[in-house]
Amino acid sequence: MTDITETDAPAADAAAPDAIALLESDHRKVEGLFVQYEAAESDDDKKALADQICLELKIHTMIEEEIFYPALDGKIEEDILAEAYVEHDGAKVLVNDISTGAPEEDDHYDAKVKVLSEEIKHHVKEEEQPDTGMFAQARKTGVDLVAIGGRLKARKAELLATAQSDGLPLAEPVVVRIVA
Ligand SMILES: [Fe+2]
Ligand SMILES: [Fe+2]
Repeated sequence: MTDITETDAPAADAAAPDAIALLESDHRKVEGLFVQYEAAESDDDKKALADQICLELKIHTMIEEEIFYPALDGKIEEDILAEAYVEHDGAKVLVNDISTGAPEEDDHYDAKVKVLSEEIKHHVKEEEQPDTGMFAQARKTGVDLVAIGGRLKARKAELLATAQSDGLPLAEPVVVRIVA
């Protein structure tokens, strides 16, 4: 019988970011894109920025839902995690609408991007709130944030490659039922 317990684990990646550093850097990037959108004047610029925002948010919510949130399940306040899933799903409604729409065809396009930015701002605050937020709680759990950071980074690269080749599908709600 071969003991693979030691060799099976991937070697520690010295370049792997801490999970929280990676996620916070995503947050800053999207915030910057929302600021650029506010200043954009042409429909083409708005559409390009909005598409980039939607892509970033799709990938960010997916890596959090697939890897980061499950790693915290049972280890941090249950409510904060449950609400995060609902907030993600709420944002996905606008992400899917905005990414398949265009400013010249939609009188509410700017309003949708604005409201999405407000939703994200609220959600990011819940994640980053000092002492009590999700990330602060995660830091106290003892979960291996560097190992998780490596997984987040790898999955992000994979999703980005898919986005560039075939495009990503619509964002899929995981806990909210879309009732039409
Ligand atoms: Fe986040
Ligand atoms: Fe999140």
